[in-house]
Amino acid sequence: MRIRRPFDAHLHLRDGGMLRAVLPSTASHCAGALVMPNLVPPVTTRASAQAYRARILEALPPGASFEPQLTAYLTDGIDPDEVVAGFEAGDWLAAKLYPAHATTNSAHGVTDVRRIDPVLAAMAEAGMTLCVHGEVTRPDVDIFDREAAFLDEILAPMLQRHPTLRVVVEHATTKAAADFVLQGEERVAMSITAHHLWWNRNALFQGGLRPHAYCLPVLKRERDREALVAAATSGHPRVFFGSDSAPHLVHRKETDCGCAGVFSAPTAVPAVAALFAAHGALDRLEGFLSLHGPAWYGLAPSDETLGLDAVPWSPDVQIDTVEGPVRIFLGGDELAWRAAP
Ligand code: NCD
Ligand code: ZN
Repeated sequence: MRIRRPFDAHLHLRDGGMLRAVLPSTASHCAGALVMPNLVPPVTTRASAQAYRARILEALPPGASFEPQLTAYLTDGIDPDEVVAGFEAGDWLAAKLYPAHATTNSAHGVTDVRRIDPVLAAMAEAGMTLCVHGEVTRPDVDIFDREAAFLDEILAPMLQRHPTLRVVVEHATTKAAADFVLQGEERVAMSITAHHLWWNRNALFQGGLRPHAYCLPVLKRERDREALVAAATSGHPRVFFGSDSAPHLVHRKETDCGCAGVFSAPTAVPAVAALFAAHGALDRLEGFLSLHGPAWYGLAPSDETLGLDAVPWSPDVQIDTVEGPVRIFLGGDELAWRAAP
């Protein structure tokens, strides 16, 4: 089958040699992506967004047509005028809320969402989307409950304080998140990764401890995965693909305190196709991968297409970067569908 080229609504591309190594994988399947801003230091100014965008374009393989859209990284002290001016000028498409210390490179994140109420009010006024990493960080909350707690304790009150703010619950991992979005207001959407559709939390312990299945928010129960699959394959326009492909060097994952993140760019799109095929939902694949995300953000869908077919293949185990190898999601396994660009 052929579908319009996908839009990855949540992607970590990093920088430098890592950027050059991972970008071709996404560009070979996707027409565009919403690129996350958790660099070191994070993308908090229009100038840093413009410079990062230029570095991404420069890292593209010759002839690739790929449109990166950026996000602003919200901090306690970020200037609302800068956020909105960057949106209106096209420097970034959305802003990302990382609760401080919730995940990789989030040390500069927001310590209390009430501190950024003026920014959220300005974003609501401008029609700009807030992308949320929806986890509370309080140590007394069990790691598997952090997303559900965020929805109740942080997101629901925030939506009440800002009645027109548009929000995407990024990399939704729970039935609670799926219910919150599907039963919620039109101004709330969700992105879902390939690996949260594919794995439940048993994958973390399959025959031993599996650092390459560790990401944040952490994998959840089978009933959560089933709810995510039901949401993704439902055809609902406020549910779309965001890979959260997040490359980390092998030696930084296979260690005493391993990094969170799954590098899925080479396999996420064919894995989603295989999953939709298994659920008899291929008629909804293009919506999830290629149409709903752009529509949410007011972008045109790609006018180019990507071929997908039911031909089994075995993805490489890893890619090499100048800094070392990075393991690929489902690398070495057999995948029932492949992309044929
Ligand atoms: C992401 C990363 O490595 O940048 N890691 C992850 O596990 N998803 C950060 C994030 O999106 O939380
Ligand atoms: Zn992410």
